[in-house]
Amino acid sequence: MGINEPLNRKLRMALVGGGQGSFIGRVHSIAACLDNRAELVAGALSSNPERAKASAPDYGIAESRAYTSYQEMLDSELALPEDQRIDFVSIATPNHVHFEVAEAAVKAGFNVVCDKPMTYDLAQAESLLETVKNSDVVFALSHNYTGYPLVRQVREMVTSGELGEINAVRAQYIQGWLRTSLEDEDQKQAAWRTDPKRSGAAGAFGDIATHAYNLGRYMTGLLPDQVSCHLKAFVPGRQLDDYGTAVIRYENGALGTVTASQISHGRENDLEIEIDGTKGSLRWRQENPNELIYRQNGKAHQIITRDPNASFMNPMGAGACRIPAGHPEAFFEAFANLYVAAFDDMAKRASGQPIERHDTVYTNCYDGVEGMYFIQQCVASSNENAAWLPLKHEAARP
Ligand SMILES: NC(=O)c1ccc[n+]([C@@H]2O[C@H](COP(=O)([O-])OP(=O)(O)OC[C@H]3O[C@@H](n4cnc5c(N)ncnc54)[C@H](O)[C@@H]3O)[C@@H](O)[C@H]2O)c1
Repeated sequence: MGINEPLNRKLRMALVGGGQGSFIGRVHSIAACLDNRAELVAGALSSNPERAKASAPDYGIAESRAYTSYQEMLDSELALPEDQRIDFVSIATPNHVHFEVAEAAVKAGFNVVCDKPMTYDLAQAESLLETVKNSDVVFALSHNYTGYPLVRQVREMVTSGELGEINAVRAQYIQGWLRTSLEDEDQKQAAWRTDPKRSGAAGAFGDIATHAYNLGRYMTGLLPDQVSCHLKAFVPGRQLDDYGTAVIRYENGALGTVTASQISHGRENDLEIEIDGTKGSLRWRQENPNELIYRQNGKAHQIITRDPNASFMNPMGAGACRIPAGHPEAFFEAFANLYVAAFDDMAKRASGQPIERHDTVYTNCYDGVEGMYFIQQCVASSNENAAWLPLKHEAARP
């Protein structure tokens, strides 16, 4: 079978963000190219034009395609012959830049892989969803934790009814790196995340609670109904929350909690989720992602390991593995799985086949609207002393 059949060639990638000293852009470039289905050929890598140019050799991007702005990049790429121009744009800039780049890329006809949270605020997310719906592009949102094999295993276990009715979802994302006021030391990643003008209405809740919330949605498919939330900034002078808990009422009567912290000493990227069903309970942690704990009353606890050849893995889980059991797969591979599913749709689109927009294996623009609605309602609830507010967003459910 050829690469990206029926295209039989690699997809051409452009990266926005990812300049020297940045974090997630590099991960996007590695994840996208991990399976040899894409090559990075162009970029507008930094908000600083000199650094944008200077960063290009780090990625092997040719001088002629190292652009100083995303606008220049889109215009120049559109002017290239079709067999040279980029197929998709990956967006790895701070939150306040996502919308303008994504909208311009979609309008120019390029597929998009955008990092989370999808936009700066809900109004931008709703507008972007309309633009995407009116186009034929593939739009993926990098809630990359959904790419872990055992996360996908759980999704299939839940949808096939193996866990029975889902009663409770407990998700938490606990970090400690913002325990002190790193933003005052001009630490790049801390500076924009704690600045309402660049991060959005929430701090930790926009940055990491959105991942935890999305993971529960992805694994269980439960539809949200209402939310009550309490957010707090514990570090003196910080303008946005660095700790918070949301309680979620789901439409089927289940209860969920999402806790996010960036002030817990020694905690790194502890994203953990537990799901209680009437027939069994599951626990998964991203810091130990190749193990899933499955418990049923009266039976010995089970540890389901990531093993592509084992009969206990379902097709969704096994299909997301690359290497045999015991060789650890982790962050890059999970991120790459998101790209793989998006590439399948990009190849379909390129050959004129229709693509599904809502029920995709990869997280998408609808998930992005849900995420932005979650942030907005959590902040509003917290401002009203944890009042219960709606969490069902009509536009996110076609
Ligand atoms: N999915 C994940 O696991 C994950 C992890 C970390 C960050 N993120 C998200 O990724 C985004 C970037 O986070 P980061 O930690 O890499 O930030 P960062 O500060 O390390 O890097 C941001 C980069 O974007 C560049 N940039 C800013 N404005 C630009 C513009 N107009 N044009 C071109 N480049 C521009 C900066 O110069 C920098 O190179 C954020 O939205 C964040 O929420 C996602």
